[in-house]
Amino acid sequence: MKSVAVLPGDGIGPEVVSAALSVLDRLDLPLLLRFGDIGWECWKQEGNPVPERTWRLLEETDTCLLGAVTSKPLREAEVELAGRLRGQGLEFISPVVQLRQRLRLFANIRPVTDLKHGRFNFVVIRENTEGLYAGLDFHGIQDPLWKEVRDHPNAAESGPASTSVTLRLQTSTGMDRILRFGFEYARRHGYSSLTVADKPNVLRQSGNHLRERLERVGADYPDIGAEILNVDAVALWMVRRPERFGVIVAENMFGDILSDLGAGVMGGLGLAPSGNVGDHGSYFEPVHGSAPGMAGQGRANPVATLLTVALLLDHLELAVPARQLRDAVHAVVLRRTAVTYDLGGNASTSQAAESVADQLSSI
Ligand code: NAI
Ligand code: MG
Repeated sequence: MKSVAVLPGDGIGPEVVSAALSVLDRLDLPLLLRFGDIGWECWKQEGNPVPERTWRLLEETDTCLLGAVTSKPLREAEVELAGRLRGQGLEFISPVVQLRQRLRLFANIRPVTDLKHGRFNFVVIRENTEGLYAGLDFHGIQDPLWKEVRDHPNAAESGPASTSVTLRLQTSTGMDRILRFGFEYARRHGYSSLTVADKPNVLRQSGNHLRERLERVGADYPDIGAEILNVDAVALWMVRRPERFGVIVAENMFGDILSDLGAGVMGGLGLAPSGNVGDHGSYFEPVHGSAPGMAGQGRANPVATLLTVALLLDHLELAVPARQLRDAVHAVVLRRTAVTYDLGGNASTSQAAESVADQLSSI
């Protein structure tokens, strides 16, 4: 039996997770759910947003469903508390960043589907470990880097102390891994094209390197049409003609921006699911955060978390129930039988989930 660590987290996290699990329950799958703790409350009470017992739980389970975590103080009282904890050397390090780094989750998956009209269905896959977010970010430039930088007229005028530089790290290892992941994803999910969003005419050396790796890896996937497009053009077409895309792969920063654009194209944070996957670990979460202003009111849209559960089921190779769940969500959103405020309805979190569960039972 497969096991899933469930980490509801903070704010609306527990509300959307419990609603989504009530729907999952209807699918009656052989899954063992094991609950654990993560987030701001853990940090407040234990000085650690990801307690050791949670890491153990993640080791012992096949994958993880995460609700949302709060990453900044909510009220004055918490600002003070946060300062005190930091004074004791208990820094708050973003739990999702910790998960991605420690579990080496190199791929961030963001499906973007048109729930209302079914006109488009593509996925943005963001590289999570290198690119412009590799951490090679410097203010005050010394030799030998300065020698390379000072030829830029602005840098020459500002001088080394008043110049900052961010390096875009691209390695054959990192690029091959994310490209292969993208092609495999395309095959498994029936996409016929893979678009790499980059900027080869400006970033020539790293752009050429990426093209070379795409040609090499792509040779193993003659059934998938591969292309490189400028990232700005991808952004334009995502809005204007989203149906042209299948799988979009992008380096860390370009992928960060495109994936949030994807959530917008989809119709908002209440709808967008995500997954983070590596060779030996994974976790799945709705794109939205803990929305503290809405917590406790039972108004949050559970759709993002329901689609996240579908993504998780896909990952566990439970493709049939994943599709059933997705179809049920689509039917409810399409008919607007019981949808939350952000979709123009007045259903509560649990009513919206309930109507998806009823839809499932009727298939
Ligand atoms: P947020 O995503 O929590 O909320 C922004 C707004 O989006 C909300 O005010 C609400 O209007 C809407 N929204 C979000 N989820 C919704 C849902 N399920 N249904 C309907 N509407 C929804 O982003 P915000 O306010 O910037 O951050 C709040 C906290 O969450 C912060 O502490 C932030 O650091 C954290 N956060 C955590 C993330 C994670 O767990 N991976 C991701 C983003 C933010
Ligand atoms: Mg982002």
